[in-house]
Amino acid sequence: MNEDIRAKWKKFEDDCRSCNACPLSKTRTNVVISRGAKDASLMLIGEAPGHDEDIKGLPFVGRSGQLLQNLLAAYGFKEKDYHICNIVKCRPPENRRPEQVEIATCKKLLAQQFALVKPKVIVLLGSTAYEAFFGDKPVMRDVRGAFREVKGYQIMTTYHPAFALRNDKMKIPIYEDMGKVRKKLEEMGLIETLDK
Ligand code: URA
Repeated sequence: MNEDIRAKWKKFEDDCRSCNACPLSKTRTNVVISRGAKDASLMLIGEAPGHDEDIKGLPFVGRSGQLLQNLLAAYGFKEKDYHICNIVKCRPPENRRPEQVEIATCKKLLAQQFALVKPKVIVLLGSTAYEAFFGDKPVMRDVRGAFREVKGYQIMTTYHPAFALRNDKMKIPIYEDMGKVRKKLEEMGLIETLDK
């Protein structure tokens, strides 16, 4: 990473950490910005930090993070291959869904994050991430697992891993979808082909 990009990241992260543009800033412990590579071709976007993420200041480090990690590892993804973040960067109290105004406010930071990471393939984890992107409420079983090209980005929606923690069967479609993501990145020449 060159000096210019490093400086831009520092400014972005400082801006995130000092943000008090919405009420979530009053109850957070840490601002949760990202995990993984800062220049990854693959970006995974969840809903919002939970308790563990708020304490550690990192996304997806609790139980659903562990599941996500296992699903990614099953397809040979390593930290250098992905950038993980959320629609909002601060934990909503009691883990409620983020409100529209909180999502809209935090989107400005997410847009800056996009401009820095420059992902090619995006995975939206769950309906909140889908709705924040596309504006309509999804029927998850209809939208999951298919790529949609928007402004040059390949975007796939899958179930949120927390859903699979409550309903074991749902691990299967998320696992299948991660396989499609690996295949897409391979086809685009953005990741090495896995040994068969
Ligand atoms: N769920 C999310 O959507 N994001 C996290 O970071 C953790 C749990």
